[in-house]
Amino acid sequence: MANLPSGNRDSFSSKFGVIAAAAGSAVGLGNIWRFPLVTTQNGGGAFLMLYIGFIILIGIPVMLSEFTIGRRAQLNAFGSFKKLAPKSPWYLVGSLGIITAFAILSFYSTVAGWTLEYLVQAVSGKLLHTDDMVSNFAGFSSSSARPVIWQLVIMVITGLVVYGGIKKGIEKFTKILMPVLVILIALVVVRSVTLPGAGEGIRYLFIPDWSAVNFKTVLMALGQAAFSLSIGMGTLITYGSYIQKDNHLLKTASQVAFTDTFIAILASLMVIPAIFAFSVGSVDQMSPGPGLVFEVLPNVFKAMPGGVVFAVIFFFLLCVAALTSTISVLEVVVAYLKEELKLSRGKATLIASVSISVLGVLATLSFGVLSNFLIFGKTIFGLLDFASANIMLTFGALLIVIFVGWKLGKINFLDELSNQGQLKSSLYKVVFFIIRYIAPVAIGIIAVAALFIKGIT
Ligand code: PFF
Repeated sequence: MANLPSGNRDSFSSKFGVIAAAAGSAVGLGNIWRFPLVTTQNGGGAFLMLYIGFIILIGIPVMLSEFTIGRRAQLNAFGSFKKLAPKSPWYLVGSLGIITAFAILSFYSTVAGWTLEYLVQAVSGKLLHTDDMVSNFAGFSSSSARPVIWQLVIMVITGLVVYGGIKKGIEKFTKILMPVLVILIALVVVRSVTLPGAGEGIRYLFIPDWSAVNFKTVLMALGQAAFSLSIGMGTLITYGSYIQKDNHLLKTASQVAFTDTFIAILASLMVIPAIFAFSVGSVDQMSPGPGLVFEVLPNVFKAMPGGVVFAVIFFFLLCVAALTSTISVLEVVVAYLKEELKLSRGKATLIASVSISVLGVLATLSFGVLSNFLIFGKTIFGLLDFASANIMLTFGALLIVIFVGWKLGKINFLDELSNQGQLKSSLYKVVFFIIRYIAPVAIGIIAVAALFIKGIT
């Protein structure tokens, strides 16, 4: 029987392991290079309140939808839909998830590779002796050998962790690295907020400016919340399938969302006050993404007493944040190949890693030799980024909530959430109501808007 779970399916061994793995997926480059600037530029505390509202109102229910699908089916994202809705086209949502994972990892690994280069540049002292950070980054990212080598190093590390399996690979790795990540961010935060002039940045970050809030800001808050929680592509379905049957899913999802938000706020306290303290430019003019971490922040470290140490810590933590996300994405594809094509974990990991790397190398080279190779007016990297983050993830999330709200249904959902009636909470019905009626409308608006308005997700 192709789709029956095997009796000895690997699983997370502890509650902390589940949280570390899922929060590891959630906490990534999005928290560090996007959230701080997007928040500061869009109303500070006002954006933060909207963001937290969306995390609670939409993010946690969608995360619960994914956990429920995976844990109920005990299968990968594709197999889960096939099992829960046999003889129907819902398995296509699973296929979309696998394709999205493939696309995301191929460009996310490019960027994760860049963090390694910068870690090495920081350790060797080269980075802080660089005069022009913009041309340093442009020179590196448009070259061929180094970015590709670093990307492959990321893919090898990611592959080795995933090859280790759930307990001995993903859980072990994230259980160690997530606390390390929090400690390292906290260290940089202490440095940043105690710099002379940091207070201005902290005020700018937290004081709500409601006049900066408009329709686009609201959409951005929701888009960022969704991307940051890693919802919409089957990561959490796949991880959900490894969560034990007695786990309190609502509690777990809330703890993961809390951790992700807490780290995003910490990351903001790490980045924004330091930018203000050294007046390296106006935050309103900066664009979130590579420019912030590879051009602006190196200048900050250069100006900072003890900057070398903080630069090393920063690029190491960036690399950790990226790796705990890349493993969650690779696992989506590996679980699919392993269970649907009946491959061993080793073979599945090898095939997934190699094929994603092939596309990934093309994405990396699209900053250099392939920069003139455009599809729909975008480079390969740009297209993969746009198609997966702006289109596939949002449509995936939309279809997932429609599936749980309208196909899997209330009885099955409540049964899974309550551990077959053992847990009681009046919130369960509220969550289902949101999944059935509110989340599809909210995500539907984003899905359409993201096609037309730049910078939402
Ligand atoms: N949540 C990650 C971040 O904020 O960087 C990105 C991500 C990872 C998105 C895994 C989607 C995913 F499946």
